Amino acid sequence: MIKGLLTICLALCSLLLQAQKLGSFSPGEIWPDNNGVHINAHGGGILLHDGKYYWFGEHKVAGNEGNVAKVGVHCYSSTDLYNWKDEGIALKVSDDPKSDIARGCILERPKVVYNAKTKKFVMWFHLELLGKGYAAARSGVAVADNINGPYTFLKSYRPNALKQPYYPSGTPDAEKQLNCNNPANKFDGFFCRDLPGGQMARDMTVFVDDNGKAYHVFASEENFTLDVAELDDSYTGHTGKFSRVYVGFQTEAPALFKRNGRYYMIGSGCTGWAPNAARWFTADSIFGPWKYHGNPCMGENAHITFGGQSTHVLPVPGKKDAFIFMADKWKPSNAIDGRYLWLPIRFKNDNLEISWLNSWSIDEEWK
Ligand code: DGJ
Repeated sequence: MIKGLLTICLALCSLLLQAQKLGSFSPGEIWPDNNGVHINAHGGGILLHDGKYYWFGEHKVAGNEGNVAKVGVHCYSSTDLYNWKDEGIALKVSDDPKSDIARGCILERPKVVYNAKTKKFVMWFHLELLGKGYAAARSGVAVADNINGPYTFLKSYRPNALKQPYYPSGTPDAEKQLNCNNPANKFDGFFCRDLPGGQMARDMTVFVDDNGKAYHVFASEENFTLDVAELDDSYTGHTGKFSRVYVGFQTEAPALFKRNGRYYMIGSGCTGWAPNAARWFTADSIFGPWKYHGNPCMGENAHITFGGQSTHVLPVPGKKDAFIFMADKWKPSNAIDGRYLWLPIRFKNDNLEISWLNSWSIDEEWK
């Protein structure tokens, strides 16, 4: 009898949760989807397609083992960015232990872009092979005909084997360039070591420019460099043209956007699952030179990005200078309970600032 009442009560509560429409963001709080379940799309990114937003992210499971990929990449859709519908698992991990994306591998920071020429949706992600910790440092790519999947895994590899970097004009020290025969090249050591097999590729994002060219930006060389690498016309491979950014400093979690013809990038330091200070950069050309500007966060807990780590910056269409900073507040002891910190980016001329807000909405922020 009591059990029956409890079941009815729980069903009612879940119905109530489902009926509740959200009209604001509450950074760091539980974020229920259309089923009343906390959104499970960590390290994610958002693609706007045909008037709908699609959020792709790592599906985590409960407990401290939850950070390995037991399920795949989860997809949600929304028309207002507050209320999200569960679209299911867009890319599933494989049951074949020999597959690159075997269940139990590490599959992080998936980002999906649309290729208008091939009419395919292309998903890139950071991949670590089953049982090998973070040693493989590969990029994985999958494609789909429909935005919410199913995505078919194509391949995984370390990008740009045997390719030398591109130095855009104005790159400091460009005249020194890389010389893998010079043992004095300390920070270039990882680059030279990895030249034959391709460069390491961990935390990452993908950015499609106004002219349709796509770029894969990833932490390389044991995270001591960010590579900005051009993708080919199909967006499923690298052309071999890439530049190295902020060499010698460990940068993770890159998120890139463009405003008034200028490229902006926000990233983090490298401290595992623990939060650290964010950092931002600008460039007039995508390959650089990129200028370092320090920490964009302001106020209490700015030195730890309010407990989060960047994953994506979302331009809000129809609003001038409206960009949302998306970050993850990781919970390694119970990965599924990781939270999302979405905050508005505020511009002071060409400088940007990010401040903490307990609750906010797009219409109030950008009237
Ligand atoms: C920080 C990275 O940003 C995450 O994606 C993940 O790789 C963790 N490090 C692992 O410690």
